Amino acid sequence: MILVTGGAGFIGSNFVLDWLAAGGEGVVNLDKLTYAGNLENLRSLEGNSRHVFVQGDIGDQQLVRQLLARHRPRAVLNFAAESHVDRSIHAPGTFIETNVVGTFRLLEAVRAYWGELKGGEREGFRLLHVSTDEVYGSLAPKDPAFTEQNKYEPNSPYSASKAASDHLVRAYHHTYGLPVLTTNCSNNYGPYHFPEKLIPLMIVNALAGKPLPVYGDGQQIRDWLYVGDHCSAIRRVLEAGRLGETYNIGGWNEKPNLEIVQTVCNLLDELKPRAGGGSYREQITFVTDRPGHDRRYAIDARKIERELGWKPAETFETGIRKTVRWYLEHGDWVQRVQSGAYREWMNTNYAARAA
Ligand code: NAD
Ligand code: TYD
Repeated sequence: MILVTGGAGFIGSNFVLDWLAAGGEGVVNLDKLTYAGNLENLRSLEGNSRHVFVQGDIGDQQLVRQLLARHRPRAVLNFAAESHVDRSIHAPGTFIETNVVGTFRLLEAVRAYWGELKGGEREGFRLLHVSTDEVYGSLAPKDPAFTEQNKYEPNSPYSASKAASDHLVRAYHHTYGLPVLTTNCSNNYGPYHFPEKLIPLMIVNALAGKPLPVYGDGQQIRDWLYVGDHCSAIRRVLEAGRLGETYNIGGWNEKPNLEIVQTVCNLLDELKPRAGGGSYREQITFVTDRPGHDRRYAIDARKIERELGWKPAETFETGIRKTVRWYLEHGDWVQRVQSGAYREWMNTNYAARAA
């Protein structure tokens, strides 16, 4: 077995689905089911005995120790986190609770389990911690992309909490010899992406005839990676990554936000033209910027390519087309995730942003 945490969220659920489809070992999936966790993402696994879902907190050491003792996984993959920068600005507390304290407690439970393993089981065990490029801070326009040597300069409560978790993981390797691997990935997009993040929000708002809120001048740059490529990179790092190492994962797809939003509009114009005519671009609205907004992220993904032979399979053009199509075909999923809590968040984050 492997133990996946956060496997009902966006990336975690894509990972679990891909892993089981590829014939990997069984998965124990530990997820707290916060607003971002959704069992519907895993519906195709209902009745599949290779998938065991457990609702619970990575910070619940007793539960994690029980799961480890019962299922004896050969690896733990930690996807569980609070993940949205804007939410971390409004309410940082849960980010510290889950990303820092939760990761610490998970590490303690895993250290105790690993400490009792013997021989091949001990040799083969891995803890893979999934992290973000945001820990490196913000780049100026001509700066080289982030390598694994860049220093950590996190700027938001989210990225600071992820940076803290990365440091703990590193320290558990250095101090206790825990066999860890860390991945730092750029912005993902694809199926099951919760519509509070840029790309799914723009698709969902466009189709609902709502404004498309671009923060500031829309010239902030992110590197975008199709979620399936992130999952294949994680599989590869788990398989062959060197212990204690970190691997940057990216799509070589740096694009300003405004261009991303315009691309989404162009695809929707083609695939689902507006009922009243005209382009979805007419719905673009520039709104008050995010406080402390990082200007640019870019990932240098040469280490994972050189050492592990991993490269993304999708280009941005193929990945974004698949993604827009997925949202057009999954209107029911979109409707169901837009609960009362979702509407409350939309109000908290956007009502006070003057156009
Ligand atoms: P997400 O917010 O969609 O999902 C997070 C999942 O973790 C949810 O299912 C949630 O219920 C669960 N969770 C939250 N707190 C928990 C806790 N205390 N115990 C157990 N489960 C808990 O996030 P995502 O976009 O899928 O991101 C997954 C991981 O990848 C995160 O660690 C994130 O920092 C990292 N990451 C995300 C991106 C991105 O673009 N989304 C990029 C790089 C790295
Ligand atoms: P997001 O998807 O929240 O990811 P992150 O902040 O982790 O990079 O945002 C991606 C970019 O899009 C970021 O620069 C902020 C911007 N953005 C908007 O312009 N409008 C929005 O409504 C949202 C959610 C994000």
